[in-house]
Amino acid sequence: PADRPLSGRHVLVTSGPTHEPIDPVRYIANRSSGAQGAAIATALLRLGARVTFVTGPASAPPPEGAEIVAVETAAEMLAAVKAALPADAAIFAAAVADWRVTQASGRKIKKQAGALPGLSLAENPDILARVAGMAVGRPDLVVGFAAETDDVVAHATAKRARKGCDWIVANDVSPGTGIMGGTENAVTLITEEGAEDWPRMAKRAVAERLAKRVAEALAAGGRT
Ligand code: C5P
Repeated sequence: PADRPLSGRHVLVTSGPTHEPIDPVRYIANRSSGAQGAAIATALLRLGARVTFVTGPASAPPPEGAEIVAVETAAEMLAAVKAALPADAAIFAAAVADWRVTQASGRKIKKQAGALPGLSLAENPDILARVAGMAVGRPDLVVGFAAETDDVVAHATAKRARKGCDWIVANDVSPGTGIMGGTENAVTLITEEGAEDWPRMAKRAVAERLAKRVAEALAAGGRT
């Protein structure tokens, strides 16, 4: 039906931050609220998609009607994403921690006067790049995000190539834009065709426009 162009389609959305444990009570985290990811999932659901929503510990409420898979770490997010595939499209809105602590302590690390614990870090898997690079079973459309503070189009275009995804939704999160933590967003959609500036609008409107584009792309066979 025209108003539910994604019915019969499965879309995977990642959202929120990840938490990387240091010990049973401490972790490394970031400020992602999960609001844009939840809005995208809601917009996809409205267009009739079946949505699997793989989310780190987010503060924004999860989308109603999605299959929610709650995870904590990047490693768990990767496993949940693999388990959720196949999907027609995959949208990676999560702010995945770049590093994890190599040997999280099984016990709370004790504070000792004059001695600082050394944290050794390891790189987390790039979930977006893994899925975009799948030789078999790759979703028809793979979308990543890029938060940049300068040369947004150049950096996001390079990121699209590096990650092997079809689209990058890039936004300028420079201080003064009010975008980080705000309710509005101004994004540039980077596709194979080039860069498309969208006007500044509510994050919910960005989600609706993106969901519509996803529906159009899948109807056309993906990627464009
Ligand atoms: O490299 P960067 O973190 O800027 O890339 C952002 C994009 O890559 C986002 O779409 C994010 O969800 C995804 N990503 C990921 N796994 C990582 C790091 C980023 O899926 N470990």
